[in-house]
Order: sequence, then structure tokens, then C-alpha cells
Amino acid sequence: MALSDTLDAPADTQPRFLRALAHETLDRPPIWFMRQAGRSLPEYRQLRTRAQDFISFCHDPEMAAEATLQPMRRFPFDAAIVFADILLIPGALGQRVWFEAGEGPRLGELPSIESMADQVEASTERLSAIGETIKRVRAALEPERALIGFAGAPWTVATYMIEGRGSDRVRARTMAFAEPEKLDALIAVLVDATVRYLAMQVKAGAQALQLFESWAELLPEDVFERIVTRPHAAIVKGLRDLGIETPIIGFPRGAGSLVEEYAAGAGVQGVGLDVQASAAIGRRLQKSVTIQGALDPLLLRAGGEALDRRVDQLLEQWGGGPYIFNLGHGVIPDTPIEHIARVAHRVTGR
Ligand code: CP3
Repeated sequence: MALSDTLDAPADTQPRFLRALAHETLDRPPIWFMRQAGRSLPEYRQLRTRAQDFISFCHDPEMAAEATLQPMRRFPFDAAIVFADILLIPGALGQRVWFEAGEGPRLGELPSIESMADQVEASTERLSAIGETIKRVRAALEPERALIGFAGAPWTVATYMIEGRGSDRVRARTMAFAEPEKLDALIAVLVDATVRYLAMQVKAGAQALQLFESWAELLPEDVFERIVTRPHAAIVKGLRDLGIETPIIGFPRGAGSLVEEYAAGAGVQGVGLDVQASAAIGRRLQKSVTIQGALDPLLLRAGGEALDRRVDQLLEQWGGGPYIFNLGHGVIPDTPIEHIARVAHRVTGR
């Protein structure tokens, strides 16, 4: 092939998902679902029985690559997301993390900020298995389907580290007011560790990155700016300073109207919207960023005609601009697989 052929390669040979993130409006939006890999699939539950525990599963490249690819075999999704968890970073920084069956995550005592700051470099090394998973998936995935790497956003990860479990986050939110320096210091360590972790994922083959800020709700505007928007902007800048131009999606779930300030300040190329986001707010955001979302996972689980109507409505209200079809939060474990396939077909025609 002549060099000029590669130089002049038309933009439309890019995966559809990456074209949308480059702010293109397409004949149909790309589609993937948050938490598409996992417990809604019987083959995942089968694979899961082979792992000692969930954390070891995430650190086993062979099994994690298989879990990443399982939904890609079943559904015509335009992107895969590496199988891992947002709580791997606290573990790599020296805090004990485990999952209580049927309950969720548990974390041991919060180590001192100093000890975690000392382990930032080592933390990326301890997460090298995730890079290996990414390499395997990228090698197995068709070129027209993109691979997404991810991390938890600092505030959301900090809430689990502070509370020791999933919770109402009252302790963590109180810390934002009562011990702001301590929270800011914890977030600074997480920003640093996250930049390195995501850079490693890009080096391994991740073509886009998502920051999961699952707990952006219930924060006053100034606090939101301090612990959500600014740390996201610091992560984006940290990656750009390393010469990494990979597109980044921020998902500040529950941000409400603050999502507009977020989109203006975080420096991300894509913004994930949650189930409450209005059609109008999404359309305003599309002028500057690509939006992603926002089908209600409960409606996906419920199915029926209401589901079809909502899919059509989302395509109608946002499909005229840069848009990635997704849920407003993750797939619920007992969602019927036929409903997922039905929505994927309705969006892609396949
Ligand atoms: O999206 C994907 O399919 C990729 C893999 C992925 C997982 N977790 C696998 C997982 C991703 C992107 C995550 C992100 C994650 N993890 C978030 C942010 C998104 C969100 O849902 O808000 C959060 C808050 C976590 C932390 C976490 N991990 C919790 C609270 C739990 C237990 C409850 C639950 O939702 O399952 C997990 C466990 C977990 N993470 C499982 C999977 C497949 C289930 C583990 C099992 O198989 O037993």
C-alpha cells in the first residue's frame, strides 16, 4: 500500500464509536452499554464460578478478556469496555478491598495519604494485568469495534475509600466540608494514580477512556466544581501532558443542571448523561461535546412497547447531533437478554 493511501485514508474507516467521539453526527449513533459485561449474561456467571473472587477475576487477563468479549459476541455493540472495576486503584494503593457475596464492596481502613502517595508509581505496576487484558481484547476484536478503557473518577473512588462500602456517602460528603484539605489531598493522590493507570491502558490499546463519576449527585455547586469538575480536568490535562490524545468521556451521574458547568470545565470530549437529563440539556451540550446515554436501565429490564418508544424518542431527540447510544447507568443483573438484543437491533438494524 502506498504511503499516500494511509495519509489520505478517509475518516469513515475509523470505528463508528470513535467518529462519534470526534464530534461527528452519523447516519446512526454507535451503541454500547455500561456494565454490558457481567451478571446479566449466563456465560459470565459460568465463567465467574472459575474465579476465586471478583478481584482475582479482574486481575486474570485470560478470564477478564473473555468477559469483555462475551457481550460483543452476542450483541452488535460498537464498543467493548475492558472488564475491570473502579475499586482496583484503592487496592493498588494499599487499601484492602474485597466483595461480600450478595452485598457489594468492602474496604479496609483508609491508609495514610502519605503512604498512598508513596505507592502511586507502584500502583500502576500492580495493575499491569489490566493492560494485558486490553492487549488480548484488542487483538481479538474486529477493527471496526472500539475498545474503551476506564477508571473511577477520584471523588467516587474516594467515597468508597472513606466509607468502606457502598453507602449514602454522608461521611464522605461531610469530609468535603469538615476536612476539605484531607479530602483534597486524597483526591490529588487519586488524580495522579488515575492518570498513570489510564496512560498504561492507552499504551496497551485502549482507544477511548471513560471516567465513572457515579456519585456526582447531592453536591453544592462550589463543592461540585472542587471535587468533580477540577479533578476530571486535572486527569485530562495529565494525559494530554503525556502526549496522549485519546478521547475521554466523563460520566458525572446525578450532576443535574451542573452537567453544563461540568462539560464546559472538565475538558472531556464526551459527556455521559443519566436518566434524568432533559432532551434540551443534551442538545445544548451537543454543540461542544458528544453526549452519551441515557436509557433508563429499569426500562431496559421492563421491556415492552414503552422500551421501543423510548429508544425511538432518544434517537429522535439526540440523533441529529454527536451522540452515543447508551444507558443512563449500568445494566441491571436480571435484565432479560432479549431486551438488550432488541434495543441493539433497533439502534443498529443488526
Ligand atoms: O461495564 C462493564 O461491563 C465493565 C466492567 C465494570 C465493572 N464495574 C464490573 C463489575 C465497570 C465499568 C464497573 C464500574 C464500577 N464498579 C462502578 C461505576 C459504575 C456504576 O455502576 O456506578 C462502580 C460504582 C463499581 C463498584 C462496584 N463493583 C460495586 C458497587 C459492585 C457491587 C455491586 C454491583 O453493581 O455488582 C461491583 C462489582 C462488579 N463490578 C461486578 C461486575 C461484573 C459484579 C461482581 C460479580 O461478578 O460478583
